[in-house]
Amino acid sequence: MTPIIATDAATHCADWRLKIEPLNEHEETAIAAQIHHYPQPQAATIEALKIVQQQQGWVSDGKVKAIAQRLKMSPDEVDSVATFYNKIYRQPVGRTVISICDSVSCWIMGYQGLAQAVTQELNIALGETTPDGAITLLPTPCLGACDHAPVAIVDDQLTRQLTPASLILLVRRAQEQT
Ligand code: FES
Repeated sequence: MTPIIATDAATHCADWRLKIEPLNEHEETAIAAQIHHYPQPQAATIEALKIVQQQQGWVSDGKVKAIAQRLKMSPDEVDSVATFYNKIYRQPVGRTVISICDSVSCWIMGYQGLAQAVTQELNIALGETTPDGAITLLPTPCLGACDHAPVAIVDDQLTRQLTPASLILLVRRAQEQT
């Protein structure tokens, strides 16, 4: 149950001396296709990160280094893009990720009740993954649906006007499907 919240650029301390993890054939082909859409390869950074994450489930330091090499950037530049987007995971996550918005509207409309219910249900803290690797629980900044607060993303699906009970139902459904 290793916490994975520390993804912001200031706290993430990557050791770029670590060995590069080369892009696999699919990653290389898909990233090359994205590069063609842009005048500069650097513009494909977020797409490259998404491609690697789709393949690996997360983006390791070694893969950041490989992306940097492919896009002619420094690893720190790629890392700063990765840590800016909260949907790019820089540490391993569970098969289902539940991201609960903790920004102001959702906080006012019941974030704390949601967080309490779901941490009790899964017996893990925010930022942790269940021991069976099924579910990772993350707080996340505003998801752009403030008028439907409180909201969360469960398995890439934005769910609005949640209650603790409706969130637990979604969690149990996700558990059945993983
Ligand atoms: S504050 Fe939660 S969606 Fe904006």
